Amino acid sequence: MNRKIDRRNAILQKIDSLEQLPTLPAIAQQVISKALNPSVTFKELQKIISYDPPLTARVLKTANSVYYGRRTPAKSIEDAIFTIGLNDLSSICLSTSVIESFVHYDQRLLDRRTLWKHSISTGALFESLAKRNNLDKSFNYLLAGLLHDIGWMILDHVAPEILGLALQSAEAREWSNVVEKKLFGLHHSEIGAIVLEQWNIPPEIIPIVLNHHAPEKADDYQKPAKFLQLASLLSPYKLPLITIESEITLDKSLGLNLPKKEITLDKLRKHYKKEITYAEDITELSLGWL
Ligand SMILES: [Fe+2]
Ligand SMILES: [Fe+2]
Repeated sequence: MNRKIDRRNAILQKIDSLEQLPTLPAIAQQVISKALNPSVTFKELQKIISYDPPLTARVLKTANSVYYGRRTPAKSIEDAIFTIGLNDLSSICLSTSVIESFVHYDQRLLDRRTLWKHSISTGALFESLAKRNNLDKSFNYLLAGLLHDIGWMILDHVAPEILGLALQSAEAREWSNVVEKKLFGLHHSEIGAIVLEQWNIPPEIIPIVLNHHAPEKADDYQKPAKFLQLASLLSPYKLPLITIESEITLDKSLGLNLPKKEITLDKLRKHYKKEITYAEDITELSLGWL
């Protein structure tokens, strides 16, 4: 019992002394906000991107990737933006900028590439699930998905020895909410929420991250929290930490118009196949920028 409290206090103390999350690079911020603005012209975006030669190179490379299937290569930035589309461009830009803002967080036990693949795909999937199910449009689903498991990375950064204990339990296929609470009295979603509160993050993201393993506790945010949980479960990229699939409450609000007992995760996988494939593509395209 005491050991659990000591571990919990050690984690909380180290979180308290963390520095601010570095803000996103100015150019990336401009690209993202311009791309989300319906009145912006391609010319304006082209101008912003052209100020940053490495970004220009990345945008051209992406437009000319097999994914977009152009017959002739895009030579101008304007062409490239048109090919990629504003939505994909802002998604890739936001994903890679968030990842790059964590570069000084050394990798200890948790493989960063695996974590980011899981995070980008969960974010892209969360965004498409929200669109398809008409959730509130004013919310940044991609960002919430990108940051939903940030608690794991914080734990790896501030207390790798404690993360090691959790990973050992995962190997023994013992999981998850229970084990974290038992070992250090904190769940990775709580660690994530504590840190996000200290950082300059849109506040409505926090209750969703905090409750992504227990959406029924999210009060006014139950629906998005439920879809975030689903997005994380449907992500084709898994973390080594075991999440028990049965922890999700499968019901009609997840978009399947079937009697409750016929709703299964497999059926949801088929139902959202297009969205899952899209999430995979955005993940691969984003990794190409890193
Ligand atoms: Fe999680
Ligand atoms: Fe997750």
